[in-house]
Amino acid sequence: MALDLLHSAETPFYWVGAFTTTSFLLWLLYKLITGIRIWVIGNGDLLSPKLGKWAVVTGATDGIGKSYAEELARRGFALMLISRSQERLDDVSQSLKSMYKVETKTIAVDFGGADIYPKIEAGLEGLEIGVLVNNVGISYSYPEFYLNIPDLENFITTMINVNITSVCHMTRLVLPRMVQRSKGVILNISSASGMYPVPLLTVYSASKAFVDFFSRGLHTEYKCKGIIIQSVLPFFVATKMTKIRKPTLDKPTPDRYVAAEVQTVGLEDQTNGYFPHAFMGWWSAVFAPIQLVLYLGARMNKAQRGGYLRRRKLR
Ligand SMILES: NC(=O)c1ccc[n+]([C@@H]2O[C@H](COP(=O)([O-])OP(=O)(O)OC[C@H]3O[C@@H](n4cnc5c(N)ncnc54)[C@H](OP(=O)(O)O)[C@@H]3O)[C@@H](O)[C@H]2O)c1
Repeated sequence: MALDLLHSAETPFYWVGAFTTTSFLLWLLYKLITGIRIWVIGNGDLLSPKLGKWAVVTGATDGIGKSYAEELARRGFALMLISRSQERLDDVSQSLKSMYKVETKTIAVDFGGADIYPKIEAGLEGLEIGVLVNNVGISYSYPEFYLNIPDLENFITTMINVNITSVCHMTRLVLPRMVQRSKGVILNISSASGMYPVPLLTVYSASKAFVDFFSRGLHTEYKCKGIIIQSVLPFFVATKMTKIRKPTLDKPTPDRYVAAEVQTVGLEDQTNGYFPHAFMGWWSAVFAPIQLVLYLGARMNKAQRGGYLRRRKLR
């Protein structure tokens, strides 16, 4: 009797198994093909001055922003560089002009303030802008519990202005003319810290989650008008912000990171931008439960906080 039952179930089991295996193999093939398309073939010359003569980069004098400025100049864009220090802007501007023979302009503003946008609007007037890189961002000087953050009131205002307000207002200034011309690319530099809450870097992490949501929502609103808005979520990159001096495969130089990231534009709306980072993002999303991510993040940041406070006491 039991044997008969088993025999009659054999055929359905066979087909369920065959269907599951085929679906899995097709999914794997699809992942392989899209992976090759993104990480090996890339998007060709999508990021070119055909989008518009000018590229605008915020936070353009160091780290990831400076690398975007160089990459876009190498691709033939004229560059509008925006950062705080006029001296450093002049240095980057000179080096782009002499290396890539492109036109450059600069605007010196502090994104920590909210009253700077009329000055930026005046500086951008009349420019045909093909690419905007909303890169400027600040983090904590060391991981800290929310109520222990030094000068908390100012800290909150400054971080929100630099990391969030800048992205909204720069987009407000640039997007209308992109929409008129039915083309343009906006790259918003969020962070892998925006993929999950990061304890002791809570305000930074939340501000980067804002940038990610803002970008993905806006992309859906404007893609039918020919505009690409991409959310970029890097893990660690060796810059002044992270104080990483020795780049490694998973903590690349900003040049290496940006060279990989620009190939993903138009292929991914939300990207970790660099293959080892994409692997880390995929692995943590699939295998790491959120409670574990929160626990490990808190543990790592408490250890860093302890180290920082001990070193500061010793000095
Ligand atoms: N590095 C990483 O591992 C990493 C990972 C994930 C996401 N990100 C994001 O990537 C972006 C760039 O980070 P980064 O590591 O390249 O930073 P960085 O090396 O510290 O460079 C920051 C740039 O922004 C400018 N800047 C800073 N504060 C400013 C302000 N208040 N007003 C105007 N300009 C200002 C700086 O120039 P001046 O000081 O001359 O103004 C500099 O050009 C940020 O949004 C960051 O959150 C970085």
